[in-house]
Amino acid sequence: MEKGAKIYVAGHAGLVGSALVRALERAGHSNLLLRKHAELELTDGAAVRAFFEREKPEYVFVAAAKVGGIVANNTYRAEFIYRNLQISANVIHEAWRAGVKRLLYLGSSCIYPRDCPQPMKEEYLLTGPLELTNRPYAVSKIAGIELCWSYNRQYGTQFIAAMPTNLYGPGDNYDPETSHVLPALIRKAHEAKARGDRELSVWGTGTPRREFLYSDDAAEACLFLMNLPAEKYGSFLANEAAPPLVNIGCGEDQTVRELAELVARVVGFEGRLVFDTSKPDGTPRKLQDVSRLEALGWRPRIGLREGIERAYADFRAHAGKIAAAGKVKAR
Ligand SMILES: NC(=O)c1ccc[n+]([C@@H]2O[C@H](COP(=O)([O-])OP(=O)(O)OC[C@H]3O[C@@H](n4cnc5c(N)ncnc54)[C@H](OP(=O)(O)O)[C@@H]3O)[C@@H](O)[C@H]2O)c1
Repeated sequence: MEKGAKIYVAGHAGLVGSALVRALERAGHSNLLLRKHAELELTDGAAVRAFFEREKPEYVFVAAAKVGGIVANNTYRAEFIYRNLQISANVIHEAWRAGVKRLLYLGSSCIYPRDCPQPMKEEYLLTGPLELTNRPYAVSKIAGIELCWSYNRQYGTQFIAAMPTNLYGPGDNYDPETSHVLPALIRKAHEAKARGDRELSVWGTGTPRREFLYSDDAAEACLFLMNLPAEKYGSFLANEAAPPLVNIGCGEDQTVRELAELVARVVGFEGRLVFDTSKPDGTPRKLQDVSRLEALGWRPRIGLREGIERAYADFRAHAGKIAAAGKVKAR
């Protein structure tokens, strides 16, 4: 991406989008096109069309989505599939119409089958049944990948899809009802410590294995992909039998119990962990195979402990706002 290129980050106020903006600014990009949800409703096809026709971005990162943790995904199933299908279809279609040079679409590892062989390779997409709790979200994200691939095949666009593992970092969602496991644990451990509790309740059995990546590392990976030289970028487009798909992760996982213990140590909660087995576990293991990304030359920089320390510092900086608003995100 040229330094002066017009770059649209859809969902720039979110966890991934804000990390993308930081990464782009660090890399010297100043011509960023940013619209908050309140300014541009991406489920509104006419509004998205007018926006792309008027602004004509050259590069697009699609980090806008209705996102949530396991309970939100399981409860608001219709909203998750309907809104995410609309966002993906509107943005990708209008990006093609506007002649966007490259587009990077963000999905997540939930696109892979529930009982996927581990680590999960890109080619395992659509090789088995999906996890039921987030199936509508996963199907909408698979549709996004299929859109990128189909537009490349029919119209010659250069759209790729990146699937980050579980992410966390500054500006995460700490809402107890809709947050992901790591920010949820940070908040719960912080509040349990503040109250002087002797126990911290962790959802599920603690046995599922999960991989985590700091959001700024994920954003750096997205920029790295978008900036690949033509022959390497083209490797995603050349294979007519495979979608233009790449995993983003660190290649290491741990159990939810190990994660909760680490969060408790970082936060300074010294009580006991208890596991609430009335809450669902989700997929037993989710570890991405990141050999495709590594072969291109990218590796993360921020380890899990350092990342949790940074995320906790950001949480504390916003703790008053989060506590006052209850459900609000730290942004
Ligand atoms: N967080 C993770 O662990 C993770 C892991 C892997 C992949 N990803 C992927 O990364 C992408 C972004 O996730 P995230 O965690 O950054 O989510 P997020 O923090 O919730 O951010 C999503 C952003 O999109 C905006 N948005 C949602 N619906 C919109 C709409 N209809 N029109 C316009 N803007 C809309 C949101 O605005 P409002 O908040 O105002 O609605 C928010 O700013 C998703 O595709 C997700 O699958 C995330």
